[in-house]
Amino acid sequence: MKSSRQLIIAIDGPAGSGKSTVGKLLAQQLNYLYVDTGAMYRAAAWKALQLGVALDDGPALTRLAQRMQLQLKCDPRNFQIAVDGTDVTSAIRSAEVSDASSKVSVVADLRKELVAQQQRLGKGGGVVMEGRDIGTVVFPDADIKIFLDASPEARGARRHEQDAEGSGNPQETIQAVRHRDSRDASRRASPMVAAADAVHLDTTHLTVDEVVQRILELVKQKLADPKGVASTR
Ligand code: DC
Repeated sequence: MKSSRQLIIAIDGPAGSGKSTVGKLLAQQLNYLYVDTGAMYRAAAWKALQLGVALDDGPALTRLAQRMQLQLKCDPRNFQIAVDGTDVTSAIRSAEVSDASSKVSVVADLRKELVAQQQRLGKGGGVVMEGRDIGTVVFPDADIKIFLDASPEARGARRHEQDAEGSGNPQETIQAVRHRDSRDASRRASPMVAAADAVHLDTTHLTVDEVVQRILELVKQKLADPKGVASTR
């Protein structure tokens, strides 16, 4: 799809809802940047674990986030992230970092730092950005906002197949994902919540391709009628 207008597309939702898979394919189709903001929280958590910073020490975690140098390669075919010169693209997918990332992400001042970086990355448009608060906090004026969801069983099963968070048995993965989601949704600072104007897509019974096609339809509508409210409901 070719267009001179460069949209900001926000995709939010819980772990295993399909955000990364869908976001990468969408960005490829549109020739957009792809920004996985969860990877930034994971990188901060990785660094805290490396340095032995307590995961409940808000001021120390904030200082760490302000000092660390994050480098992102926002290529949807080959997304990479480095912290202070070390490539952590794979290391941040461990079960330990997954849990730690959800803990550090409750710290409001740490979030402020990462949100500012995310806003700088996306401000030019032509970007698919995924996370928990993109449509609510990072880009409340995003052109398209999607909230992806799926049943806890489907999400746990996907995580089990996808990454190291699922290295245990499937039931343990479902439990870990549920635990992380409830922490992400109940925290005070920018809890995971759908923006009032987000389009909800339940991916439990949809293929990845079907989800991508639905979002591409919204992109088409938006490009044809920038003022129109895109909705599949
Ligand atoms: O998307 P993910 O599972 O890789 O995210 C890891 C953690 O980071 C997640 O448990 C919550 C946090 N996160 C967040 O608070 N805000 C975001 N925009 C993205 C992720």
